[in-house]
Amino acid sequence: MAFPKTRLRRLRRTEGLRRMVRETRLSPADLIQPLFVCPGRGVERPVSSMPGVAQLSVDRALEAAKEAYRVGVPAVLLFGIPEHKDSIGSDSWLDDGVVQNAVRAIKDAVPELTVITDVCLCEYTDHGHCGVLTREGDVDNDATLKLLARQALSHARAGADMVAPSDMMDGRVGAIRAELDEAGLSHVAIMAYAAKFASAFYGPFREAAESAPKFGDRRSYQMDPANGDEALREVALDLEEGADIVMVKPALAYLDLIYRVRHTFNCPVAAYNVSGEYAMLRAAGLNGWLDEERAVMEVLTAIKRAGANLIITYFATQVARRLVDSRR
Ligand code: PBG
Repeated sequence: MAFPKTRLRRLRRTEGLRRMVRETRLSPADLIQPLFVCPGRGVERPVSSMPGVAQLSVDRALEAAKEAYRVGVPAVLLFGIPEHKDSIGSDSWLDDGVVQNAVRAIKDAVPELTVITDVCLCEYTDHGHCGVLTREGDVDNDATLKLLARQALSHARAGADMVAPSDMMDGRVGAIRAELDEAGLSHVAIMAYAAKFASAFYGPFREAAESAPKFGDRRSYQMDPANGDEALREVALDLEEGADIVMVKPALAYLDLIYRVRHTFNCPVAAYNVSGEYAMLRAAGLNGWLDEERAVMEVLTAIKRAGANLIITYFATQVARRLVDSRR
């Protein structure tokens, strides 16, 4: 009987050895913490489908941003829940809208923290679609571009370091880039939700952001989950239009695309570990069905291993705190 000469188990024997040959190491610097900002003061309204996540008024969002920064998370991503909704989402470009106020408060208190803003109309429209509608009720691509650019400009004027369009209209990265450049804001970066799929995993987010469409769905603008090659075309176009970072969203069911984007384009890639992915792990953890801490580390490490340079996750601050404590 021949004994195997190659023994891969040799380097798995102790944590010390495993640590030495570990190929992927998650760091707080990889993570981005999303925050939901709502009107008011001292408001903290829990999101029932995302235990541990709440809508926060500007003062509370500032506290959350400070805590993220304290544990080494380099950036927050802001979503706004406005006072009023209308058919064109006009609250989204108010100088003193919730997001604009939050940007100013955070950049004032923690200038080193990178502030990214989500640019989309769905939280601001009464019909809940990501763009304005034609008479027939379709989402009007080109009419939407102007409004997205206007929203992005108001975020940038408030001091956002980066804007992140999530609407999936064609040409929005170019329209936003042109608007920012014309206003002398060429230093503001764009993180494009480049390959964003029409996913069931956004369900809990729509409760958090109060942005569920009132009729129909988002399949006429978000991508078909069956398409991989098309995702690469989306990414190529966004880069041509001036995107600085491209995103794949959701993350877990699309690890192949994170990998392909990473190896096809030489640019920073972000992955969005979305609300439904958070909810699955949290629910199972709270029920005692799996070890949440280990499962979260495994999932985030896998997203990084697949090729993501940045991971947007509702677990960011929690995971960063643990990484700092354990020097992993
Ligand atoms: C807005 C937007 C959505 C998400 C980010 N920006 C929801 C959607 O497209 O319906 C989803 C984020 C998440 O599920 O965590 N367009």
